Amino acid sequence: MKNTVKTFQEAKNNGEKLTMLTAYDYSTAKLIDESGVNSILVGDSLGNAILGYDNTVSVTMEDMIHHGAAVARGAKNALVVVDMPFMSYQISVESAMENAGRIMKEAHADAVKLEGGTQICPQIRSLVDAGIPVCAHIGMTPQSIHAFGGFKVQGKDVGAALKIVKDAKAVEAAGAFAVVVECVPAIIGKKITEMLKVPVIGIGAGPDTDGQVLVYQDMLGIFSDFVPKFVKQFAQVGELMRAGFADYDKEVKAGTFPGEKQSYAMAPEEEEEFEKLLGQMEFE
Ligand code: KIV
Repeated sequence: MKNTVKTFQEAKNNGEKLTMLTAYDYSTAKLIDESGVNSILVGDSLGNAILGYDNTVSVTMEDMIHHGAAVARGAKNALVVVDMPFMSYQISVESAMENAGRIMKEAHADAVKLEGGTQICPQIRSLVDAGIPVCAHIGMTPQSIHAFGGFKVQGKDVGAALKIVKDAKAVEAAGAFAVVVECVPAIIGKKITEMLKVPVIGIGAGPDTDGQVLVYQDMLGIFSDFVPKFVKQFAQVGELMRAGFADYDKEVKAGTFPGEKQSYAMAPEEEEEFEKLLGQMEFE
């Protein structure tokens, strides 16, 4: 069954947990979709996980549309949420509308995600009025990494914690259908989840949110440049990949791959004639 903003709200109303994972390509999206995960986020974390940048600031609209469209082709049931990249919505409501419109039309997203609280409520309101579902993202918002002075837990003191709660209430009032809250003390995740009517999806926000999101390379042990405290590695796929790549390298160099099983044959009479004619041909 296709997950929609309506089924997200029903899950919250019924106290059912929601799952979201990132993906950036067709094959991975298909695997996640088939596993029953509710939503696929084409996160701008593709900057780190796929493109090898130190952060998400350099990610462009073209990157998001290119990867978003690939994911949308692989996701039949999961709700596809595509991140709006840095500076594609902060400048003005008009630029947010134009760029979100491109993501919906060219990447075939089901929804967009924007980072920020009270300051981006005008953008959220306009997008929602135009029929574009918006997932908000508050707490540790990676596009503001330079302002935070690094990937740091947010809301550790009372003032900062209250500001995050205020942001949560504001983005809900502006029309967000869900709110991602990242890297905050568990008590903030819990309180926001209790206070909001819309689903709250946590990443490093403790166990009490309505759902969880993780970057798939983190949870499969593929990306290990930096493993945040909130990540659990559910499988060691990185190890498996490394072993597979090394076996391939060994077998090609030893001449054991490809073997007969992986090779195509000609009909014997064709092969015989081919050898004969080839022997008679003269090449310059
Ligand atoms: O870009 C991303 O993957 C995200 C998640 C970490 C929530 O925004």
